Amino acid sequence: MTTQLLSTTEHDLERAAELIKSGGLVAIPTETVYGLGANGLDPEAVKKIFLAKGRPQDNPLILHIHDAAQLHDFCREVPETALRLAEAFWPGPLTMILPVREIVPKTTTAGLDTVGVRCPDNDATRKIIRLAGVPIAAPSANTSGKPSTTTAAHVLHDMDGKIDAIVDGGPCRVGVESTIVDLTGPVPRLLRPGGIGPERLEALLGALEIDRAVTGEIARDAVVRAPGMKYKHYAPAAEVLIVEGSSEAAARWVRERFAPGDAVLCFREELPLYEGLNPTAYGLETDPISLSAGLFAALRRLDDGAVKRIFARCPTGGGVNVATRNRLRKSAGFRTVNAEEAAP
Ligand code: TXA
Ligand code: MG
Repeated sequence: MTTQLLSTTEHDLERAAELIKSGGLVAIPTETVYGLGANGLDPEAVKKIFLAKGRPQDNPLILHIHDAAQLHDFCREVPETALRLAEAFWPGPLTMILPVREIVPKTTTAGLDTVGVRCPDNDATRKIIRLAGVPIAAPSANTSGKPSTTTAAHVLHDMDGKIDAIVDGGPCRVGVESTIVDLTGPVPRLLRPGGIGPERLEALLGALEIDRAVTGEIARDAVVRAPGMKYKHYAPAAEVLIVEGSSEAAARWVRERFAPGDAVLCFREELPLYEGLNPTAYGLETDPISLSAGLFAALRRLDDGAVKRIFARCPTGGGVNVATRNRLRKSAGFRTVNAEEAAP
């Protein structure tokens, strides 16, 4: 199949909607990452998503809607907290897990009794959903296990010939996937940190439980609430090692060990400390959204086969840095050293 490249003109958005309606696969831009979309109510179309990504069948998809009013169409119960969250954060990088209505096929929910729903902050994509007249089921538009895609070129790299079209909406503003909050239990539960920092959710909800999958390593066979959290993720071919500590201590530690085949992934402020080592910066430490926006693109740039080991610097603190840290730690398989404690 030839993968068409579409723009965000009226004409092209109509074409994208037609493809979705007729059971095709279309990569769509969102503020977080690109999604690999299909008609979320059509099990045959949804099956193609799993095939194109090489995604395990037990990993449910998020339904993308164009308006919070659509929540009632696909969710059996919509608690008051869901409406408050939608009011505060939609359109935006927040996915809510709610009890699912029967109209949503098991292929989309991986057989769960719940569904993840999100209204993305991207005009072109919301327009496609409106024109198609169906919710769009979409995981991130990357080959399963690889870093998510934040430009149309990344999507083309992973999906060329496997999907019908890619709508190029430019680079994604947030760059890491949405925050996922489960509203089906007695207390709202954070399943995945994302574009909306946990503090903002907590401020609005009063109480927020943090799932173990957010902070710790999860065994492959563990029972986790967001099935996707247990898989190897965001991983370039090279081994990633997070180096903690002050900028100076980390640079000293890395310089003592740097060998051919190694690469450095750091904050832009730190570039001078790695002079001569051809460092890659993914954003400014003082500008958290630049780090989240740049992380996956940088991991992809370093995924070229020649790089065997990546020494990575990871942001501390709250907000979107929680998500950036979570993705980087996963890509590192949770391997971390503290340059200030490590033996010389
Ligand atoms: O920002 C995003 O959320 C992007 C864009 C495209 O919207 N989408 C995305 O989808 O990241 P995906 O499939 O790569 O990640 C969705 C995560 C997976 O870990 C999945 O297991 C979890 O959400 N999930 C989906 N439905 C769920 C449900 N009903 N209960 C618990 N977890 C669910
Ligand atoms: Mg994904």
